[in-house]
Amino acid sequence: MNTLVAGSVHKNTLISKILNRTAVIGVVGLGYVGLPFAVEKAKLGFHVFGIEQNPIRAEQINRGKSYILDVKTEIVSELVEQGLIQAVTDFRYVSLLDAIIICVPTPLTKNLTPDLQYVISVTQEIAKGMRPGQLICLESTTYPGTTEEVILPILETSGLRVEEEFFLAHSPERVDPGNIRYSTKNTNKVVGGIGPESTQVAETLYQQVVDKVITTSNAKSAELVKVFENTFRAVNIALVNELMLLCDRMQLNVWEVLDAAFTKPFGIMPFYPGPGVGGHCIPIDPHYLEWKAKELNFNTHFISLAGEINRRMPLFVREKTARLLNDMGKAVSQTTILVLGVAYKKDMEDYRESPAIEIIRLLQADGAEVVYHDPHVPEFAELGLEMASRPLTEELLMSCDMVLIATDHSTIDYEHVAQYAQHVLDTRNATRHLVNHRERITLL
Ligand SMILES: NC(=O)c1ccc[n+]([C@@H]2O[C@H](COP(=O)([O-])OP(=O)(O)OC[C@H]3O[C@@H](n4cnc5c(N)ncnc54)[C@H](O)[C@@H]3O)[C@@H](O)[C@H]2O)c1
Repeated sequence: MNTLVAGSVHKNTLISKILNRTAVIGVVGLGYVGLPFAVEKAKLGFHVFGIEQNPIRAEQINRGKSYILDVKTEIVSELVEQGLIQAVTDFRYVSLLDAIIICVPTPLTKNLTPDLQYVISVTQEIAKGMRPGQLICLESTTYPGTTEEVILPILETSGLRVEEEFFLAHSPERVDPGNIRYSTKNTNKVVGGIGPESTQVAETLYQQVVDKVITTSNAKSAELVKVFENTFRAVNIALVNELMLLCDRMQLNVWEVLDAAFTKPFGIMPFYPGPGVGGHCIPIDPHYLEWKAKELNFNTHFISLAGEINRRMPLFVREKTARLLNDMGKAVSQTTILVLGVAYKKDMEDYRESPAIEIIRLLQADGAEVVYHDPHVPEFAELGLEMASRPLTEELLMSCDMVLIATDHSTIDYEHVAQYAQHVLDTRNATRHLVNHRERITLL
């Protein structure tokens, strides 16, 4: 059999396995991206193996428990009972898998350069166990070129040829944790393969679970789609943050200005200022593109400017807190501040890169005693801090010199907070609907 024919046999076999749901799917990294993906696929009847290096997470899945807010424990437990999901901590089953989806972290190094250690190490493990007829697809966000320049050469050490004996694609994850309107199913998915055969196989896989799949002509473009999306957000958030800094000087209410601006039915879309950006996407992904652009002797000015403005926001919150306390005749170093919400995003438990934690660190460095309450984060260890959430009692509110709303969780009773707090600095406009106690509330 010549290689072209062999390639099309592998492709057609894999596509039929996907279509009749007998394909066995491996998901590497069962986190915010990997676990929902694994669950969606298992719900369709595919057998899914989760490869998760964290033994606690793997064990929880095998006991039918979810540790991600958006994924319901009842569903995981049902799928585990039916034998559709199983988690392992190593790569022993690679050869059994028909499609392997990589969902591991892609963080930055301290110098804001891409840290691909997780992607590289899992790819090396996959390469060791590969067999002909598999699809490998990277979902982790990364710079354009990763799939072709980093992953492909490692997989080729298996001796197998891409587009003929195995298929390789990138499909960026667009999950928006906590978003009730847009789930995996109704969020369009972008897919770009190393070549047309890979694109076709990956497109077929995603068509099983997503309403609409959009293909790009190569993996690099698909990679760029995702980093551009997050750059778009980072730049627009920086723009409204800068407007907020100007409004602070002009003594104007930025929220009122923005709300009025967003009544225009075309040519504008809502973005809001805040205490800084957090999570594992907006503060990180644009720098992947910035780094890659430098390789081509090209400076991405918008990205560096947006990063600079957004990173400065916790410092501004610190400054505004100090100003407010000063107006009350208090020195920061002699006050107790209650930070309300440490998750980086409303109604979420994820506190990675959260600006709230940086603000706590800064205020502590200024000598303040800082406590926090977050209904979704009972405790955290980050930036050298180890703290536990305090119950949001009237006594706590009254005993603190300032309540700093850093995350606008919707389960918090802000009326109650404003009633008992000495003063509230609201960095999210969480108190927008409050009529009473406005004199005690300062907006960012
Ligand atoms: N969280 C989001 O909202 C989101 C949205 C879109 C894209 N992304 C991207 O998706 C990727 C994954 O992000 P996430 O938020 O799911 O990360 P996460 O930290 O929640 O999950 C990653 C998982 O991978 C596991 N892991 C790490 N190394 C491993 C290894 N060698 N073998 C097996 N498992 C390993 C970790 O233990 C963890 O459970 C990142 O590139 C991120 O930028 C995230």
